[in-house]
Amino acid sequence: MHNDVARVLLNEQEIRDTVNRLGAEIRRDYEGKNPILISVLKGAFVFMADLARAMDIDCQIDFLMLSSYGTGSESSGQVQIMKDLSMSIEGRHVLAVEDILDSGRTLQYIMEILSARKPASVKLCTLLDKPERRTVQGIAADYVGQVIPDEFVVGYGLDYAEKYRYLPYIGVLKREVYQ
Ligand code: IMP
Ligand code: MG
Repeated sequence: MHNDVARVLLNEQEIRDTVNRLGAEIRRDYEGKNPILISVLKGAFVFMADLARAMDIDCQIDFLMLSSYGTGSESSGQVQIMKDLSMSIEGRHVLAVEDILDSGRTLQYIMEILSARKPASVKLCTLLDKPERRTVQGIAADYVGQVIPDEFVVGYGLDYAEKYRYLPYIGVLKREVYQ
């Protein structure tokens, strides 16, 4: 285990089981609909790669990069588009893929910009959900991997100050690392 990690929250097997369960649920709902999966960079890149393979149905892949956190562990509350989609989503079934749902501001913003482009439908899949942290009311994901406590986690794509994304597990970051 990495020295900066206090404990492992989800090990590799637990992540695999979670992703396979989500993949099966999404396949059931989207088979024959040729959805566009939109990964919200950078945190969701590992999850998206595994989820697309677990779904195992015809789909397309695109990326959206937003920024709200800078390098800290607390949201600045400001969300900006850093990189836009490469294709039109008009009339298409869209599934936004997020690493973690925290305050809900990022999801609220994603839903606003995607809905404005007139997709046939838009839903959200998040690997992790921290419901205790929600500040935006009425925001929820359609597919949730695991509900986790209010702790700062890293690994499996998730970072702190652009570090730890490569870790194969999801671990709780030691407080002294970010305080
Ligand atoms: P929200 O807009 O507050 O819901 O924040 C969502 C984004 O914040 C995620 O996509 C992550 O990039 C980041 N984030 C929130 N909590 C954590 C965490 O525990 N570890 C790493 N990144 C996090
Ligand atoms: Mg992030």
